[in-house]
Amino acid sequence: MNAPENTREPLLKIRDLSAGYGLVKVLHDISLDVHEAEFLALVGSNGAGKTTLLRTLSGLLAPLSGAITLAGESLVGCTPDTIFRRGVVQLPEGRQLFPRMSVQDNLLMGAYRRDDRAEVRADLEKVYEQFPRMAERRRQLAGSMSGGEQQMCAMARAMMARPRLLLVDEMSLGLAPIIVDQLMENLTAIRNQGVTILLVEQDIHLALAAADRAYVMETGNIVREGIARDLIEDPELKRAYLGV
Ligand SMILES: Nc1ncnc2c1ncn2[C@@H]1O[C@H](COP(=O)(O)OP(=O)(O)O)[C@@H](O)[C@H]1O
Ligand SMILES: [Mg+2]
Repeated sequence: MNAPENTREPLLKIRDLSAGYGLVKVLHDISLDVHEAEFLALVGSNGAGKTTLLRTLSGLLAPLSGAITLAGESLVGCTPDTIFRRGVVQLPEGRQLFPRMSVQDNLLMGAYRRDDRAEVRADLEKVYEQFPRMAERRRQLAGSMSGGEQQMCAMARAMMARPRLLLVDEMSLGLAPIIVDQLMENLTAIRNQGVTILLVEQDIHLALAAADRAYVMETGNIVREGIARDLIEDPELKRAYLGV
């Protein structure tokens, strides 16, 4: 069957999702679709609830209500480990590498739940081909690299888990534009391999320039969605986020 993109069941489907911390509700009835092999951006200011959404998707935070399905199967109530095994891999804000371990050991940590040793080795070589800078630095301590290289290492580590859906939290934070451009190219290449990407970003212009589609979040609500290149031209968004 060759169903057109928009009639196919989304890979990730979120319906009326609410979540929060204790008595404080942060996400208010969020609905969102991510299609297979799509590069989706979720943009919004600091405190909008983007990380809270990613934490809920990863199973770190239990939803108060609503539905989350991956390829038609519910993720609600699943442990973070189960969700990870189903192919939902998070590239967390702040990267969270093991700074006193080598680049290579950090990459292997990405595959620690896998028991197919020979294939892990093969994947490591593939990842080094894709990230030659990491190959050069494979024996270096991760914590001794620049911020951009550490972000690249975190991305390469995520690939070692063979993600189906990659959740990326604030990739650009604190990095120079030239480094961010490189990382965006890496992310686009990963998508071109068939990995679905959900990128969360405060830098709305950056995210809209790279993504296929985007959702805009404000104080725990989705306020806008559309084709990314259309949203770049949206006068209201320009006024609110781009200082135009
Ligand atoms: N662990 C927590 N406990 C209580 N409130 C939190 C916690 N983490 C985030 N919040 C609150 O949830 C809201 C959304 O935060 P967050 O999801 O981190 O936003 P974003 O990632 O878009 O910057 C903010 O008001 C924040 O203060
Ligand atoms: Mg955040």
